[in-house]
Parts: sequence; structure tokens; C-alpha cells
Amino acid sequence: MRWTKLLLGFILVLVLILFGKEDTMGKDIPALREVYKDYFPIGAAVSPETIVLFDELLKKHFNSLTPENQMKWEIIHPFPSVYRFDPADKIVEFALKNHMRVRGHTLVWHQQIPSWVFKDDKGNFVSKKVLLERLREHIMKVVGYYKGKVAVWDVVNEAISDNPKEFLRDAPWYKIGGEEIIEKAFIWAHEANPNALLFYNDYNLEEPVKRDKAYQLIKRLKEKGIPIHGVGIQGHWLLGWPTPEMLEESIKKFASLGIKVEITELDVSIYKDRYENANFADNPPEDRLEKQAEIYKRIFEVLRRNKNYISGVTFWGVADNVTWLDFWPVRGRKDYPLIFDINQNPKKAFWEIVNFK
Ligand code: GLA
Repeated sequence: MRWTKLLLGFILVLVLILFGKEDTMGKDIPALREVYKDYFPIGAAVSPETIVLFDELLKKHFNSLTPENQMKWEIIHPFPSVYRFDPADKIVEFALKNHMRVRGHTLVWHQQIPSWVFKDDKGNFVSKKVLLERLREHIMKVVGYYKGKVAVWDVVNEAISDNPKEFLRDAPWYKIGGEEIIEKAFIWAHEANPNALLFYNDYNLEEPVKRDKAYQLIKRLKEKGIPIHGVGIQGHWLLGWPTPEMLEESIKKFASLGIKVEITELDVSIYKDRYENANFADNPPEDRLEKQAEIYKRIFEVLRRNKNYISGVTFWGVADNVTWLDFWPVRGRKDYPLIFDINQNPKKAFWEIVNFK
């Protein structure tokens, strides 16, 4: 009887050793940051909550972090003389403790910014001079505060208009200050931290018309001697858009300006277009996951081929249980755009990115 119990115990321990490790959140899988160590840093956008939720995954796979919202004006500088660094500090501390690079995001953007920035006491738009003074104060304070900690800044986000008939976006920043806002933002960010790499960041830069506008803008800045070091292609992609060829053309075109390129907000929605009338609430269909994996595979082929120009690739999130695409553009439509699933296990897309050697 005693021997039978011992034998059973022995078998149980053996089974645990052999199979127990199988999958507790993919502990035995290759580490993305290791697989890509000769290519580029692998990043994720995070919040003070997700650095706790995804603690293990982050430490294992990622070596670059971007605060998803915590450095945006409305959070870091909500009122004229109030700066709140706490939420972003949590992320920066976590990153530095774990030897990760930090991308600061973002200094000039038309969204998630309080309206006081553009207004006087009476609610009228301020002059260009006043707006530039406010911008300078903000940049010197925020970039200065993170000097030595934040290595890369998305200085200006989404300034270019989607309307082919206009160049800069129809937003208070540019209505009041024009292109000088962009020039000064880069100059002051450089003044506040001469070691930081400074980026222009935008979406749809794979599309020829917008790609050309961004190219023209950056070319002008470079010709004027403005310190700009890179362009961020956001990379919020869909099952049918863009093609790898479009991406490669953009990378080459921007690289010809002598700047670096990063994919800064990568995710691949499992929907075919932004407003597809479907909702895979419980389970993503197998064929969609396969298609998504194929897209990730082809994107990373392009990225690896162009590694000399690429200084980082950042996912906009970590695992499918937390993604902004559940709320945008269709609120409540569940999406599965990342390479780890809702249980933090690797998806087919993960394996396509990792198995190339
Ligand atoms: C844009 C911004 C990001 C983020 C995403 C949506 O791409 O650059 O900061 O807000 O939208 O989450």
C-alpha cells in the first residue's frame, strides 16, 4: 500500500515536471527581444495598470516601452500650472529597472489636450506668440524632467491633414501657429534634452499622398537644420491594408532623408475594414487569425530586410485582453489585434514573427 502511494506520488511529480511547465503564460517560448536582438528593440504601449497585469510578458519579451496616455498633455499638464508626472513615472521606473528603452509620447497633438492651452481668459483663441510661449514652457518642463530617462520623443503627432487639398490639419495648433509650431517643438525638445532622438509620428504614412506630404515636411525641416531624427509610422493595420510593398516603399522613401524609421503603434485588427459589420465577441474565427498571422509574417519580413533603417518596432498593447480597438472605431466590438491572446498565450502571429531563422 505504502509503495503504491509512493509510486503514485513519484508519477505525479514526473507528470508535473514533464507537462506542468507546458504553458503557464508561455514560459518556455522564445523571448521576442532576444530573437530580435540583432534587428531592433521590440516595444509595447503600456499603462500603470498593464505593467502589473502583463509584468511577466513584458519583462520577457520587450525592451522598449511607450506610455499609452500618461505623457499626453491632458494627463501630464492638465491645468496651466499643474504638472502630474506620477502616472508616467510608474512606467518609466518599471522600464528603467528592467533595462528597457522609453519612448515619450507625445508633445504636440490635437487630441487629449485641454482647451485652455489655446484660449485666453475670455475664451478667445490666443495669439501665436502666447501659444508658442505655452508650448516652450511645456516642452522644457516635460522633456527636461525626463532627461536621461526618455531616449526617444514623438515630438509632433498627426499634424498632416488627410484632406488632399490642405497640408496641415485643421486644428488650433496649426490654425494659430502654422508650421512654426512644428519647427519650434523640435528645436525646444532638442534644447531640453540634446541626447534624445526626436520623431515625427503619424498614421496612413503607407498611403502615397500622405507619405509624400510627410516626406515634404521632414525634408523642409531637415533643410532648415531643425533637429529631427526619425519618423514614426503608427501601424494600425487591418486584414486588407496596407500591403507590405506600400510599407517598404515608405520606409525607403523616409530613409532616403537620412532619418530613422520606427513602427510606433503596431496592431493588426482582425476586421477587414474599420467598420466591417461583424463582431467576434467570444472567439476570433480561425481563418482570420491565420490571415492575421500571415500579415504579421510579411510585415516583419519587410522590417528585417530594412533593419538598417529601423530603430524600433512597438506594439500598441501587449495581449488581446486589453486593446483600444475594443472601443474604436466601433465601441464594444471585440478585436484581437496583438500577438498574444486574451490569456496571454502566443498566437500564430507570434510564431510567424519568431520562426524565421
Ligand atoms: C493615435 C495616438 C495614440 C493613441 C492611438 C489610439 O494613434 O498616437 O497615442 O491614442 O491613437 O489608442
